[in-house]
Amino acid sequence: MKQIILTGDRPTGRLHVGHYVGSLKERVRLQNSGKYDEIYIMIADAQALTDNAEHPEKVRGNIMQVALDYLACGIDPAKSTIFIQSMVPELTELTFYYMNLVTVSRVQRNPTVKAEIQQRNFEASIPVGFFCYPISQAADITAFRATAVPVGEDQLPMLEQCKEIVHKFNAVYGDTLTEPEIVLPDNKACLRLPGIDGKAKMSKSLGNCIYLSDTEEDVKAKIMSMYTDPTHIRREDPGHTENNPVFIYLAAFCRDEHFAEFLKDYANLDEMKAHYERGGLGDVKVKRFLNDVLQSELRPIRARRAEWEKRPEDVVELLRAGSARAGQTAAQTLNDVRRAMRIDYFENGNLLR
Ligand code: TRP
Repeated sequence: MKQIILTGDRPTGRLHVGHYVGSLKERVRLQNSGKYDEIYIMIADAQALTDNAEHPEKVRGNIMQVALDYLACGIDPAKSTIFIQSMVPELTELTFYYMNLVTVSRVQRNPTVKAEIQQRNFEASIPVGFFCYPISQAADITAFRATAVPVGEDQLPMLEQCKEIVHKFNAVYGDTLTEPEIVLPDNKACLRLPGIDGKAKMSKSLGNCIYLSDTEEDVKAKIMSMYTDPTHIRREDPGHTENNPVFIYLAAFCRDEHFAEFLKDYANLDEMKAHYERGGLGDVKVKRFLNDVLQSELRPIRARRAEWEKRPEDVVELLRAGSARAGQTAAQTLNDVRRAMRIDYFENGNLLR
């Protein structure tokens, strides 16, 4: 069976380091593993519009930003097809057929949808399009016959729901759709990076993000202002490393080589943590080390972004070509779906049989 990746992000803002460790880095690794026959990376503008109907300019303005973030991270347009969701209308038609295979109560039970409805204070007035986005996401995934979907861990319920739709479709209309698997990073610290304020999640609306496109100075200022252990007041005090964002970031980003390069006092993170817990290690020293580690990771990303920023027309062209290619793949699946459902009326005199 062909190994195919489909994944994507809503263009509602620039991508941050939480996206990076949670999924982008994994996508680049998979892309370069040589194990995949086809890779599709989608800028999910139609999904972003489901809760931004009144702000299409916000979605539009972030399409280039997300494309630049992808290219900056090392998504290579020669290996991966980057495309814009709404430029592939086949996805909408698939969504319409899948909607009939899902009940309202099943979507209501989707934990991610539930959480988002609360966050957005939608309770009494949920846009129908927003409510259906898990179904549209199943269309995105199955249209490309994706076998692997590298996404953040918050997307697990979407993948569960997608698999259910695949099973239901195949049971009703015969084997047609491919079942996908979610791909998450192995490192648990990467699954959900907290905000720099210590809140559970890095999120644009909370203003607690470090963006991939932040300048070196911005990143440093954000790290130096990071929330740490509130009980660790003087350097000599014993500190906590658990639930301490600075140490969670280190667990997500640092490798033993970083100690050899930037902080020879310790051989690895465990030694550093032990010292902090014992007392005698100040927050400023830990933050300076985190800054060194993060800057070394972000520097090549920033440099690639700067190169692509000089050629915006090339980025547009790559999105146009990518969307055309993605459209061809999705059209083939849509044909298979219509055939399976026997709604391909004008093929082979089907309407007469
Ligand atoms: N829901 C994803 C996000 O919020 C974006 C997305 C839309 C997606 N369709 C997808 C991700 C299909 C993976 C597969 O970022």
